[in-house]
Amino acid sequence: MVSKRIAVLTSGGDCPGLNAVIRGVVHAAAHHDWEVIGFTDGYEGMLSPVRYRILDTGATDGIMQLGGTILGTTNKGRFVAKIGHGNKAELDPAIISEARETIEGLGIEAVVCIGGDGSLSTAQQLFENGIKTIGVPKTIDNDIQATSMTFGFDSAISCVVDSMDKLYTTARSHKRCMVVEVMGRYAGWIALHGGLAGGADIILLPEIPFDIDKVCDVVQKRDANGYFTTMIVVAEGAKKSDGSYATKDAQGRKGEAALGGIGDYVAGTIAEKTGKETRCTVLGHLQRGGAPTALDRILGSSFGVAAVELIAKGKFGHMVSYRNDEITDVPIIEAVSHLRNVKPDSQLVKTCRNIGISFGD
Ligand code: F6P
Repeated sequence: MVSKRIAVLTSGGDCPGLNAVIRGVVHAAAHHDWEVIGFTDGYEGMLSPVRYRILDTGATDGIMQLGGTILGTTNKGRFVAKIGHGNKAELDPAIISEARETIEGLGIEAVVCIGGDGSLSTAQQLFENGIKTIGVPKTIDNDIQATSMTFGFDSAISCVVDSMDKLYTTARSHKRCMVVEVMGRYAGWIALHGGLAGGADIILLPEIPFDIDKVCDVVQKRDANGYFTTMIVVAEGAKKSDGSYATKDAQGRKGEAALGGIGDYVAGTIAEKTGKETRCTVLGHLQRGGAPTALDRILGSSFGVAAVELIAKGKFGHMVSYRNDEITDVPIIEAVSHLRNVKPDSQLVKTCRNIGISFGD
C-alpha cells in the first residue's frame, strides 16, 4: 500500500547521468513505500495533454548505464524561464495554475525537478507559487552555483579527452594546428578541464578574453621551436578581446541564443595570418550523448536518493548539492541567482599556465 505519490521530471538539455538520478529517486522512494510517476518531456508533461509514466524499480532496471533520459526532455516549450545570459523570464500564471491542477489532481506530494539553471529557475517559480519542488542540478556545463560539480560534466570531459587523443595523432602526422570547439555556454569548465587533460597547448575561455594575434604568435613560436603541432581547445562561449562571442541560429530553439562558430573563426584566422595548415572540429552533441562515466553514475545516484530524503524531511524549494566531498542541500534560489564561472586566477588556471598552456591573453 503506497503512502505517498511523488513525481520526477527531467528538463532542459539532456546529459549523461539523468537515468541514474531517476533510478536513485525510484529506489529511495520504494524504501518509503512511495509511488513515483515520471512526467515525460520535461515540465511540458504536466500540461494538457498530461503525459506521465508510473516508475517502479522494474521500470528503472538497467537504465543507469544509458545516456539521455528515459523520460524525454526539452529546452523549449511553455516553461522556458530563461531568455538569455542570466536573464530570467516570469512564467505565465495560467501555466503555473494548470501545472498545479495536474499535480493536485494526480495526488502528487512533491516534484523532483532535474535540470540546469533555467529549469531550476522554473522549479523555484513553481515553489514560490505553492508547488512543492526539489531541485537536482544537471548540466554538462558545470556552471550551476552552490554545487561544486554537476553530473554529466565528467562524461563530457571524457568525450573531449578521447576526441583530443584522436585528433592529436592526425594533427601530428600532418604537422597541423587543430582547433577543437567544445560546449559549455558562458562558462569555460569543459574547455579548461578537457583542454588540460587532453594536452591542449592553448585554451580559450569565456572568462579570459583572448587576443587572436597572441594566439597566432603562440602557434608561430611553437613552429619555430620545432613543435609543429598545436592543439587548441576553444569554448563555444570564448570571448574575443573586444568582448564579443560567436552565436549561431539553432532551429526551434526558444530562450537563450545558441553559441557556436568561434572554432571556425579561430582556425580560419590562424590559417590566414600564419599560413599554418589548420583544421577545426566542433564536438557538439557528442559531448552530451552516450553512457555516463562511473563518476556521473555515482553522483547521479547519490543526487536521486538525496532528493527523496529532502522530501521526507519536508525541505521543499531546496536543491541537492555536492560540496566538500558531501551530498548536501541549498535553497534553489541560491543556485539560480547567477552562473558559476571559472575564476581567471584559480589554481587550475595557474596550473595550466605553469605547464605552458596559453590562454591567448
Ligand atoms: O547547456 C548544455 C548545452 O549542451 C550547452 O553546452 C550548449 O550550448 C547547449 O546546451 C546546446 O543546446 P541545444 O541542444 O539546444 O543545441
